[in-house]
Amino acid sequence: MTGDDLGFVHVFRPPAVVEAPVLLLLHGTGGNEQALLPLADALVPGAGVLSPRGKVLEQGKPRFFRRLAEGVFDLEDLVRRTHELAAFVDRAAGQYGFDRRRVVAVGFSNGANIAASLLLLEPATLGGAVLLRAMVPIVPEQLPTIAHTPVLLSNGRVDPLISPEETERLAALLRRAGADLTLAWQPVGHELTAGDVDQARDWLARQRVGDADAPRSAAPPR
Ligand code: MLT
Repeated sequence: MTGDDLGFVHVFRPPAVVEAPVLLLLHGTGGNEQALLPLADALVPGAGVLSPRGKVLEQGKPRFFRRLAEGVFDLEDLVRRTHELAAFVDRAAGQYGFDRRRVVAVGFSNGANIAASLLLLEPATLGGAVLLRAMVPIVPEQLPTIAHTPVLLSNGRVDPLISPEETERLAALLRRAGADLTLAWQPVGHELTAGDVDQARDWLARQRVGDADAPRSAAPPR
């Protein structure tokens, strides 16, 4: 089902079974709501899919938040867009009737960065996340508690956009917030490879996202 209501142009596909995760697909710069559908099928056949198109245009290319330069983010816009995306997921859960606790972000590049921002600023939105080529989007003044939230960070060792130190910085930040973080190094740059897909598929198969006895995340007190 494709729609442009709920605030984002998006694709929604219900999960084949109630226990299946709903993958929140977040594309990279220049992608759209269709871009990661084949990846979702490769990762979890039968998963639900919620795939919005980023609303910021950079020279005509959709993104999820503004940047001032390569790797330099407009933080005010990032914060606003992160809350906007969380509200969209909430509305979509109400409209389509899926369990919010089963939402797992799968983001690539710019999409991975806003997924990391969701974990840090809107932690109740995600039951888990696969971050493919993510960097530190923002360091919040107060870290949320995302205890036991499973996160796979899959980055390239020779990525011209993301240094190994930046990857380690993001891993440390998410671990400090309590995430159950797995860091997977790929022997490549920014492009996705079969190695990413294999590792993410195996990792997702081991998670118990949204099970009734799985612990929940919480935002810091305001
Ligand atoms: C970003 O802007 O989020 C990162 O530089 C990744 C990208 O989209 O190129």
